[in-house]
Amino acid sequence: MEYIGKKEQPIAVFDSGMGGISVLRELVSVMPNEDYIYFGDSKNAPYGTKSKEEVRRLTIEHAEELFEQGAKGLVVACNTATSAAVAKLRELYPYIPIVGIEPAVKPAVNCKENPRVLVMATPMTIREEKFKKLMARYEDQAKIIPLPCPGLMDFVERGDLDGEDLQKYLTELLYEFREEKVDAAVLGCTHYPFVRKMIQKTLGSDVQIFDGGAGTAREMKRRLQEANLLNDSGTKGEVIFRNSLKDERKIALAKMLFEMKAGDDTTKP
Ligand code: DGL
Repeated sequence: MEYIGKKEQPIAVFDSGMGGISVLRELVSVMPNEDYIYFGDSKNAPYGTKSKEEVRRLTIEHAEELFEQGAKGLVVACNTATSAAVAKLRELYPYIPIVGIEPAVKPAVNCKENPRVLVMATPMTIREEKFKKLMARYEDQAKIIPLPCPGLMDFVERGDLDGEDLQKYLTELLYEFREEKVDAAVLGCTHYPFVRKMIQKTLGSDVQIFDGGAGTAREMKRRLQEANLLNDSGTKGEVIFRNSLKDERKIALAKMLFEMKAGDDTTKP
């Protein structure tokens, strides 16, 4: 396969809004010498309650813009956009490394013998064929419980990571899964790692929580290596944040989320 990019070009990271920053943090940690363009489509968020056709159209449109801006590869850091568009994107751009994200069901299923695994994701991710196939692959090893969480990503978009309204929302949403009713929970939307602490608190400390960010970052590194596109300059790269909402507050929130340490999901000092 002939790849058209050059090592010094940036990697594009795309999401419907702020969520993909949880993947960006992992990417920077495994490939610190790369430059990144992070693009959040907050103007059209949420994606998870839209139709597949619309999410596919928006994802392809923004991917094209990012390639025009000189990206050598693309991480679709959104489970919803991945299920709607990643196959089509790979068909359109076979000469560019493109990596998507899917709910981290595999490590959750392996957390113990016959576990009960809750998968939290957007309504679209859970409705899609891609997720049904993923579930079918593991259904003889675990009890997998899909849980659509419409509205959860909005808290992160507003920068509310630990407020009372969020706690109320989670208490209602997770009511029947508290007190050891599940062994593991999969954060199947890239926004959710930013509210991991609150999810953990609501489900209880014995529940193991998984997300696919680190695996996706490792996969992108592998793909770039294979394409001989890894930046080997030895100097620390830069991150540029862009958002479809021309609002400086979105960029400031993106930078704040990026600076937070993984697992440190609180806006309090
Ligand atoms: N962050 C996105 C995901 O991983 C979706 C949030 C949304 O736009 O609904 O699925």
